[in-house]
Amino acid sequence: MEKVRVNLKENSYNILIGKGLLGDLENLAEHSPEQNFIITDKNINALYGNYLDALDSYERIVIEPGEQSKSIDVTANILKQMLEKGASRRSKVIAFGGGVVGDLAGFCSAIYMRGIPFVQIPTTLLAQVDSSVGGKTGINLLHYKNSIGAFHQPVKVIIDTGLLHTLPYKELLSGIGEIIKYGIIYDYEFFKYVARNIEKIKKCDEDIMPYVVKRCCEIKAEIVSRDEKEEGLRKILNFGHTIGHALEGITDFSKYAHGEAVIIGMYYETIMAKKMGIVDEEYAAEILNFLDGLGIDLNIDDYPVLELADWMLKDKKNVGGKISFILPVKEGMVKEQMLEKSGVLYYISSL
Ligand SMILES: NC(=O)c1ccc[n+]([C@@H]2O[C@H](COP(=O)([O-])OP(=O)(O)OC[C@H]3O[C@@H](n4cnc5c(N)ncnc54)[C@H](O)[C@@H]3O)[C@@H](O)[C@H]2O)c1
Ligand SMILES: [Zn+2]
Repeated sequence: MEKVRVNLKENSYNILIGKGLLGDLENLAEHSPEQNFIITDKNINALYGNYLDALDSYERIVIEPGEQSKSIDVTANILKQMLEKGASRRSKVIAFGGGVVGDLAGFCSAIYMRGIPFVQIPTTLLAQVDSSVGGKTGINLLHYKNSIGAFHQPVKVIIDTGLLHTLPYKELLSGIGEIIKYGIIYDYEFFKYVARNIEKIKKCDEDIMPYVVKRCCEIKAEIVSRDEKEEGLRKILNFGHTIGHALEGITDFSKYAHGEAVIIGMYYETIMAKKMGIVDEEYAAEILNFLDGLGIDLNIDDYPVLELADWMLKDKKNVGGKISFILPVKEGMVKEQMLEKSGVLYYISSL
């Protein structure tokens, strides 16, 4: 079993990573005499619900799969069930699922009686390498993604890489998008490692997945430990996300899995960096070749440039009407570039 520590003073916690960890869930989740809860979705419950049978002090709440569950209604429904079933301030919540379950269950834990402990057991690649670590929780309101939320760190993250084999290919690629992002923003050696081993990663090869997931968690843990509330460094995690979020929004969150949109976003944001002359040409070509080779349709010509820019203007990272872009500069390094809407229109229309 691999272990990564997230250092956040009194909010510090461990991430445990290994194949088959869920077989020992009873010990790992730690028994408590309170009324505890597991929140999961129907797909995961059907596939892996049997692992949860060992936890008899836990009441199971099973939600519909998909982004539409990150809503006020589903949140209210979960909180009502917790109140009715006697959850106390010492009750614990386990989020067993992908980023949707993690964000929703984390948010319920953050606001129930002003905050109760929660454990993340991520089941998608994206959740294992990204969303389960770092304490961002939240739901969507109107069309504004993650517009309601809280920073609430888990008390533990348990990652079983053996669960990845049942993931649909689209979801796997989505996770690969976030994996390669870590290499580009922070660790060029890791970028090259992922590029060399991409076929094995696509097959969730058991020999390398624990390492791949661990390295991503290490990088995220380091960044989050230095900037928990995204006041500076943490922004680099948004590489690919300014354009990526706009693509998700303009397609009503139904065409792309999150990390797929991030892959396309990283592709065009690298081209933007090239046009601005802030990135070495050869290095930019290396990034573009790799992203192109993932087999995702990179064409964004169908989306009106003005609408894309309007989606970007809604981003939480913007300041004073300027849009924030994280752009590659050199191996393992990115920087923030703020652009007015007119600048965005110029670059996007020339992509
Ligand atoms: N909090 C953060 O820091 C953060 C970071 C990135 C993304 N997110 C959020 O994460 C969400 C996306 O999460 P996601 O990509 O994990 O998608 P998801 O949670 O919607 O899961 C994708 C699909 O895979 C299914 N699934 C989950 N595990 C499976 C398994 N092992 N085998 C087979 N099927 C499985 C789910 O039921 C679902 O249908 C978005 O809402 C996004 O905003 C949050
Ligand atoms: Zn992301």
